[in-house]
Amino acid sequence: MSNAGTTSSPNLTHYEILALDAEINVSDGHPRQSLTPGQQEIVARMPEIFSLASREPFADLEARAQRAFLGSMGQHTAPVDEGRVLSCYASSVAMDVVARSLAPRPATIGLIHPTFDNIPDLLIGWGHRLVPLEERALLAGEVPHLPGLDAVFLTVPNNPTGTTLGTRALQRIAETCAEHGKLLILDTCFRGFISGERPDMYALLDATGVEWVMIEDTGKLWPLSELKLGFISHSTNCSLKLAKNLSDVLLSVSPFVLALVAEFAQDGASGGYAQLHSLIRRNRATLAEALSTTEASLSVRHSDVSVALVTLPGSLTSEQAWRELRTAGLHALPCEPFFWADGSRGERFLRIALSRDTAVIAKTAAFLQDYFAFHTSA
Ligand SMILES: Cc1ncc(COP(=O)(O)O)c(C=O)c1O
Repeated sequence: MSNAGTTSSPNLTHYEILALDAEINVSDGHPRQSLTPGQQEIVARMPEIFSLASREPFADLEARAQRAFLGSMGQHTAPVDEGRVLSCYASSVAMDVVARSLAPRPATIGLIHPTFDNIPDLLIGWGHRLVPLEERALLAGEVPHLPGLDAVFLTVPNNPTGTTLGTRALQRIAETCAEHGKLLILDTCFRGFISGERPDMYALLDATGVEWVMIEDTGKLWPLSELKLGFISHSTNCSLKLAKNLSDVLLSVSPFVLALVAEFAQDGASGGYAQLHSLIRRNRATLAEALSTTEASLSVRHSDVSVALVTLPGSLTSEQAWRELRTAGLHALPCEPFFWADGSRGERFLRIALSRDTAVIAKTAAFLQDYFAFHTSA
């Protein structure tokens, strides 16, 4: 059991900030591909959308946007009409509100390992104690250390691995949490990338009777210049003071962004998501093909998610690869911080963001191919 590996060394966002103006930025998982023609049409209507949003009653607009987004994700039983979905500026804000809502009594939380480091950082920042739950065990529907935990926190799909907990494993975990009276918290920020059936997680969780909290996010899907929303939804039996703690942080999200989310969700459901999925599929294939001639490889071959974890050739560490590639103009992400309980396990990997134009990924793939070839021959 451990909180090791967090807070003192640079976090992932530090590396992502360094990449913002890079020649090739495949560092952060925010969408940076060009707008599709359908999305361009919505952006061209922004003045009209702005004006309409300012006239629509806020509660109606918020419910309409939540319904449009969650419906487009296949989450048809999300409790929008019951008022159990709260809107915030971003999923990190949602995460912070959940962490502070758990804080009156420091909790022992089982957290998926590895995962994006602002999750453990925020939980630790609010005084919680973390226990790493290895992704491999969770995929089999097992929750190690469950009796000693107050809550279980899972990222589904996960970042950086791109792995998604299957319906059966999630159901088994939810049933186990319900049986033992443990809170189940899910971060579903990358759900929109799942190209096959996206099960209604709300129906699944409610059927088990588990106490749950879900963090939703529009921010990884659409290249909207960081205009995005996070949502926090919760079960009827949830005891956390989420609405009160959210009101300590904000009054309301932007009506304009709510209206944009409703438009983009509608576009997504009528073909936009399919276009996004084929972009990510194409980009992953380009990267995999380039790596196939080197001693590096994709650590997870089949994934829909917009990030790829690259296993480095034996002679290279993550930090060294990050540094040398950065000097040459390519910013990827070193992976030690994802392994928040044992950073050394991240030394074997580099993470590449795939939500970029095909030309950017083609350049990245050629760049990495040359770099790994040079390293192998050196
Ligand atoms: C799984 C996961 N949750 C939450 C976040 C935070 O997203 P944002 O920076 O948009 O708040 C990230 C960021 O990459 C993430 O990977």
